[in-house]
Amino acid sequence: MTDPRLNSAITSAAKDVEDYLASHLDPAGNPDLAGTPERLLAAMRHGVLGGGKRLRPFLVRQSAALFDIAPEASIPAGAALELVHCFSLVHDDLPDMDNDELRRGQPTVWKAFDPALGILAGDALLSEAFVILADPACHADAAVRAALIAELARATGPTGMIGGQVLDIEGEDKPLTTDEIMTMQRMKTGALIRTGLRMGAILGSAGSKEREALDRWAEEAGLAYQIADDILDVTATSEALGKTAGKDTDQDKSTLVARLGLDGARQRLAACIEVADAALAPFGDRAASLTALIRYFAERQR
Ligand code: IPE
Ligand code: IPE
Ligand code: MG
Ligand code: MG
Ligand code: MG
Repeated sequence: MTDPRLNSAITSAAKDVEDYLASHLDPAGNPDLAGTPERLLAAMRHGVLGGGKRLRPFLVRQSAALFDIAPEASIPAGAALELVHCFSLVHDDLPDMDNDELRRGQPTVWKAFDPALGILAGDALLSEAFVILADPACHADAAVRAALIAELARATGPTGMIGGQVLDIEGEDKPLTTDEIMTMQRMKTGALIRTGLRMGAILGSAGSKEREALDRWAEEAGLAYQIADDILDVTATSEALGKTAGKDTDQDKSTLVARLGLDGARQRLAACIEVADAALAPFGDRAASLTALIRYFAERQR
């Protein structure tokens, strides 16, 4: 059972980021986007608004809170990270990637529009993420903005999410070992989870000891997130997930469930939580929200 306080904190952070993004992706609230081709804007909005759990912006908020940063102050940084995450999902669903037709309970962007627009709307979401981070409204200090931009760019790129997606696709034809699967998961999913913690630490001017502890926690939280996703792929329904269940087996994906079985994957997940808890020792009670959050990651039903 999820802590009701955690649930309401997640819901309220999700609403804040959803409102921010709805306004950012509307020329009425954001005149900079006036002149965007109509179908492109519609595809971008389709890929972002409605249905996402918004857990990565919540990570930015919780990490920043450890350093006494007010919730509102991390909304633009969290929104930028969520845009990169949405870009990753829009592209993940493309016919030449996972070829998925259902996402967040709706047709995927390429299905609702067409594959070319799926590619281009994803690209546009990626560039908008950096527009948000470069804006002084994100943070008054240009050095902080530059650090956020560098952090998110690195997490997204060849050694982060995008590199991990390449390993994921290669793993369809060549079964990966358990270690190779975990490396792939650290990159394709872990990198954006870790960057959420790091962006919060940048906003909060965290010291190196605190950053190292958050990195160790994030490493395990990222693995836990993807292991739970892979378990849900075989245990949940498409209706509950809002995306097609059973895809990983159909596509011969290299997952820990495929390699170790459901029980084996569940044991790995439990081990991640144990290591993650230990990493938070330097924060004492201040990190109770993260201790609860990784359990939420593991126990979520969608
Ligand atoms: C799905 O991410 C893709 C993975 C990295 C496992 P989420 O489970 O966070 O999806 P949304 O954003 O809530 O739809
Ligand atoms: C998602 O992995 C990783 C990224 C999108 C970066 P999956 O392919 O397992 O995600 P779902 O299950 O389609 O959401
Ligand atoms: Mg995929
Ligand atoms: Mg997929
Ligand atoms: Mg999946």
